[in-house]
Amino acid sequence: MPDVNTTLRELEKDRSNLIKALQQVQELEGYISDTDISEISDYFSIPPVEVEGVLSFYAQFKREKPGKYIISVCDGTACHIKGASLIANWITDDLGIKDGETDEEGLFSLVTVACLGCCSLAPVIGINGKIFGNLDRKKLLKVLKQYKQMG
Ligand code: FES
Repeated sequence: MPDVNTTLRELEKDRSNLIKALQQVQELEGYISDTDISEISDYFSIPPVEVEGVLSFYAQFKREKPGKYIISVCDGTACHIKGASLIANWITDDLGIKDGETDEEGLFSLVTVACLGCCSLAPVIGINGKIFGNLDRKKLLKVLKQYKQMG
């Protein structure tokens, strides 16, 4: 698996490549850490504060390490009608995290997304890309329990 340095070395040392570099590092690690900022800053000879400025301008970039399991709650039309907000509330009650947050153990992150493409199974969540549908509270808590036990 490539590391940040290898990824950077494939890009020309031109500040016009800054966003591309940030995108590639995020793809690699799931977020942009402080260490990444200083490596990127060194590589392009741009002050770290400028790199931070770009990061805060674009919502696509994440500064916090995501959890091991990313729970995507679908809030597309079909899921919304079938109680997506209830699903999100039950997850919050069980794991103590809201949309955009990661738990203290770094196990779960919660995000709300648009249609996951399985509307006939609404309401739906995805966990690291695996789909769970036709959820009610009991089914949902069972799924979460399985992931907690896997750790
Ligand atoms: S609206 Fe949720 S899967 Fe399509």
